[in-house]
Amino acid sequence: MKLLLWGAGGHGKVVADIARATARFTGIAFIDDGWTDGWVEWAGCPVLGGASRISDAQRQGYTHFAVSIGGNRARAEAFGRLAAAGLEPAVLVHPMASVAPSARIEAGSVVMPGAVANASASAAANAILNSGCIVEHDVRLGAHVHVAPGAVLGGGVEVAALALVGLGATVLPGIAVGVGSIVGAGAVVRRHVPHGVTVAGVPARIIARTGV
Ligand SMILES: CC(C)(COP(=O)(O)OP(=O)(O)OC[C@H]1O[C@@H](n2cnc3c(N)ncnc32)[C@H](O)[C@@H]1OP(=O)(O)O)[C@@H](O)C(=O)NCCC(=O)NCCS
Repeated sequence: MKLLLWGAGGHGKVVADIARATARFTGIAFIDDGWTDGWVEWAGCPVLGGASRISDAQRQGYTHFAVSIGGNRARAEAFGRLAAAGLEPAVLVHPMASVAPSARIEAGSVVMPGAVANASASAAANAILNSGCIVEHDVRLGAHVHVAPGAVLGGGVEVAALALVGLGATVLPGIAVGVGSIVGAGAVVRRHVPHGVTVAGVPARIIARTGV
């Protein structure tokens, strides 16, 4: 089984390491639209070129993919293109992550070292559970969500599609975070967060309205 990663940046290095650690893939390669002719290798893996090389990669036997881009909207778009091309989204869980047997991690999602997903937690497609985050029991993460390193989501939290919970932020149990919203680094979220806003601080308050 060969894995194609879209996104040869810092986040891509980490995702490549996780893919290696799973020992499930006989080959791992990148595509990246920032590719230039002089750039042939990233994190020990070949860079095949930009997104125009997806079908070449398929001819070379790359059947599975993960999108290794941290930004949620760009990751969602790349996910759609790779899935439409007929590649299969892989679920990548680092061996040092802790995912409860009853937790459900859907296709294309990446669970990083030290992350915890407890009983009945779920992550929809293309989510990132970044290093050391804690996703408590019954949390629901929508598609293309990013839970940043060290963030803590209490039991029953719902994070809607395309939202980012920033580094070290805490979301209290049962709270909902709206579509495409951003929880700033270090925030403590006590109230529901509407769609399309940025909240920050302790306690978290709306500091910007970006729309969905
Ligand atoms: C909240 C955040 C999105 C705001 O970014 P921004 O829109 O560029 O806003 P600015 O940096 O212009 O800051 C706007 C104001 O909010 C304050 N602010 C920014 N981030 C803050 C935070 N995390 N907590 C508290 N206040 C914050 C700034 O001090 C500034 O206040 P001022 O107007 O009184 O000077 C960003 O700072 C942040 O925390 N991003 C999370 C990044 C992250 O965790 N990524 C995951 C990486 S793996």
